[in-house]
Amino acid sequence: MQVITTCAEMSRLSWAAERPLGLVPTMGALHEGHLSLVRQARTDSAAMAASIFVNPTQFGPNEDFATYPRSLERDLELLQAEGADLVFVPPPHEVYPDGFDTWVEPGSIAEGMEGAARPGHFRGVATVVAKLFTIIRPDRAYFGQKDGQQVAVIRKMNADLNLGVDVVTMPTIREPDGLALSSRNAYLSAEERETAPAVYRALCAAEDIWRRGERDAGRIQRAAHNILSREPLIDAVDYVSTVDAETMQPLETVPDHRPVMIAIAVRLGPVRLIDNVVLG
Ligand code: PAJ
Repeated sequence: MQVITTCAEMSRLSWAAERPLGLVPTMGALHEGHLSLVRQARTDSAAMAASIFVNPTQFGPNEDFATYPRSLERDLELLQAEGADLVFVPPPHEVYPDGFDTWVEPGSIAEGMEGAARPGHFRGVATVVAKLFTIIRPDRAYFGQKDGQQVAVIRKMNADLNLGVDVVTMPTIREPDGLALSSRNAYLSAEERETAPAVYRALCAAEDIWRRGERDAGRIQRAAHNILSREPLIDAVDYVSTVDAETMQPLETVPDHRPVMIAIAVRLGPVRLIDNVVLG
């Protein structure tokens, strides 16, 4: 496994790598969710690359960029054990040199939900992923459904800008009690951690009434709100949204012929938890 810190060297080694080349972009603090992507990339590809880069441009001014969990040594051991060939770990100035001033600005797909709660977030994500795709030129890149709007934004950018990468979406990996794995779960206190699975229970309640025939988005969302409102430690429900799973546009009625995503964001102590299910 080679660990590379410059864009030029990463481009050179990616160019020389066997094909197909699979890429797993991450911000590190790796857990089983990330590793599920890594394993799929390894299985599908002749060569496998991962990136570890806590991308400053996708964090808002009052967000946790400075304190985001970092565990580089352990991450590299895990990637080595999974058989990664190339790991790209650039310092910030390598990705954003002085004077950097060109951005990928996603459109309406990034307006709602996380885009509304975190202004500029998806511009930062789209820009860094476009750069990674251009530096590394992977045949395939792997993303988690956990961040459902993120993967939709990346698919749209990849198509609109003809980046030519096969974007693979992988299922959300959960704890046994349903909580979606996330690097930020480490910030939860013991009591908050006990409350956290309510988000997935709320999604399951929504999915359940849809399965029993309900198609009105308001009533489906209410089933989720009912579960969340029983949890005193949840400080705020940022949204419960029913959206087209591809375009992220809100729906009033769930159609039978298109994939639909129900997404939730709540604030629980110091953490914003996000999760979603795709109906079907
Ligand atoms: P990060 O939060 O480190 O996540 C890296 C990848 O792991 C993303 O595609 C994310 O959706 C996936 N992932 C996280 N938790 C998961 C889980 N429980 N199950 C399955 N997949 C999971 O997302 C980012 O980094 C960044 O925004 C990035 C795309 C790297 C751009 O900076």
